[in-house]
Amino acid sequence: MKSILLSILLLPISVFSAPANDKKMIISNQCDKTLQMGYQTNDDPRGTTIEIGVNGSHTLHVNSNWAGRVWARESCDYHACDLAGAGDPASLAEFKFNNNNADIDYYDVSFVDGFNLPVSIEPVMNGGLDEFVQLDSKHCRVSICDSLPVCPEDLKELDDAGQFVACNSACSKHGKDEYCCTGDHGSADTCNTNYYANTIKETCPDSYSYAFDDATSVYGCKANAYKIVFCP
Ligand SMILES: *[C@@H]1O[C@H](CO)[C@@H](O)[C@H](O)[C@H]1NC(C)=O
Repeated sequence: MKSILLSILLLPISVFSAPANDKKMIISNQCDKTLQMGYQTNDDPRGTTIEIGVNGSHTLHVNSNWAGRVWARESCDYHACDLAGAGDPASLAEFKFNNNNADIDYYDVSFVDGFNLPVSIEPVMNGGLDEFVQLDSKHCRVSICDSLPVCPEDLKELDDAGQFVACNSACSKHGKDEYCCTGDHGSADTCNTNYYANTIKETCPDSYSYAFDDATSVYGCKANAYKIVFCP
């Protein structure tokens, strides 16, 4: 009798504890061309693509513990628009949301797998500054790369007309452990910055430039919405 009562009492609790679709990502296109925006939940094989016109925006509603990435392409001729990552270079806006009150959301702009468009991530703070903002420069601040780093010649990908499509990562182009942070260079102690990562950091110090570039690239906040702007 007691256990039946208990399970009836627990039922609504388990319904309430399921993560709600209450995080918003507001994605804006300030580029001068229509974009195919892609977003992918971590561990899903492919993403979903949504077209956003010039000066347009699209709001995604995701779980409060969603983890994944957002990117965009002007053309799907050279890389599938629903793929981004190693071998399919694109600037990534990465997120790891936490519905646990004890932890914050993490976000970063990643060029680890290459880059194609300038991008920024900004938490939308209701009611202005909160306790997190005062912590340090990596809390609740905008992470921005508003003009692309120079792409070294050996990493450049051009279209048939010779126009820039994307900059490959040094790892996917040259496959060396020192760029991929694999093998003998598989830890934070043994994988350091390199010529290509430095090129990224010179122009976009906020962006992730190689796999162990956490300290200068990971931002944290607790907000209900995050604004992602392509060509900010
Ligand atoms: C987009 O916005 C910019 C800045 O306000 C404006 O100059 C431009 O004409 C707009 N483009 C389109 C296609 O609406």
